[in-house]
Amino acid sequence: MDSKSSSAIPTVDMKKIRKGENLMKAVICTKYGSPEGLKIQEIEKPKPKENEVLIKIYATTVHIGDTRIRRVDPFMVRLVFGLFKPKKNLILGLEASGSLGTFAIQLAKYYGAEVTAVCSAKNSELVKSIGADKTIDYTKEDFTKTQVKYDIVYDAVMKSKASKCKKILKENGIFLNNSRLSKIQEQDLLLLKDLIEKNKLKPVLDRTYSIDEIVEAHRYVDEGHKRGNVAITVNEE
Ligand SMILES: NC(=O)c1ccc[n+]([C@@H]2O[C@H](COP(=O)([O-])OP(=O)(O)OC[C@H]3O[C@@H](n4cnc5c(N)ncnc54)[C@H](OP(=O)(O)O)[C@@H]3O)[C@@H](O)[C@H]2O)c1
Repeated sequence: MDSKSSSAIPTVDMKKIRKGENLMKAVICTKYGSPEGLKIQEIEKPKPKENEVLIKIYATTVHIGDTRIRRVDPFMVRLVFGLFKPKKNLILGLEASGSLGTFAIQLAKYYGAEVTAVCSAKNSELVKSIGADKTIDYTKEDFTKTQVKYDIVYDAVMKSKASKCKKILKENGIFLNNSRLSKIQEQDLLLLKDLIEKNKLKPVLDRTYSIDEIVEAHRYVDEGHKRGNVAITVNEE
């Protein structure tokens, strides 16, 4: 990992470096609340167990899930990540999801679905460029007030209720959202890898910040209007 100098970085313990204990640069959530509680620190590199691999990170992301942990939304976050303050060395930026809608559209098209995307007018062109057949502007129209029936309603931004969406589902239709993490299966990851390599699944990139601009990146994601992904560059080698 690189180690650009920054006033936010505490003094590095040179004895540790001489001993060969590798350090890495990380953004630590030191307190709950505003993005200013995020501090760039030098911490020890994780040691992989026998069945694990150590991955060098070149770029990561900030998504709404990170900002919700930082803001303790919901309260349950405290039970998982620390009751009064975040547990030691809490690193955000874990990506199993993020910008879910933009991936969902591409995967639905891959499986041959006709896709109607619910978004604001400013994002209509973007979602059509990745495969949406139609769009509904959520600022002007309630997508649940229609006679059209769908096989699947997927709420990627957790803004609607299953009970309201039920009436626009076909008889065996299903409603999905992100309230539960599905179990990651090896074959799913292999499929995603294959689609990415064949350029059939592309990440949508909104903005890129350097790791030193992490506070600004969180402020932007806090606004709730990112389009696709917000990337953070970590390692420029
Ligand atoms: N369970 C899990 O594993 C898990 C993991 C990560 C995230 N999540 C949750 O999943 C959700 C999505 O995260 P994300 O990072 O993919 O989202 P995101 O990219 O941060 O969502 C922002 C986008 O949502 C649009 N949007 C806002 N209100 C909308 C509405 N009423 N209808 C349609 N679009 C709307 C915004 O468009 P405008 O700018 O036009 O408003 C913006 O483009 C979050 O609620 C997050 O907490 C769950």
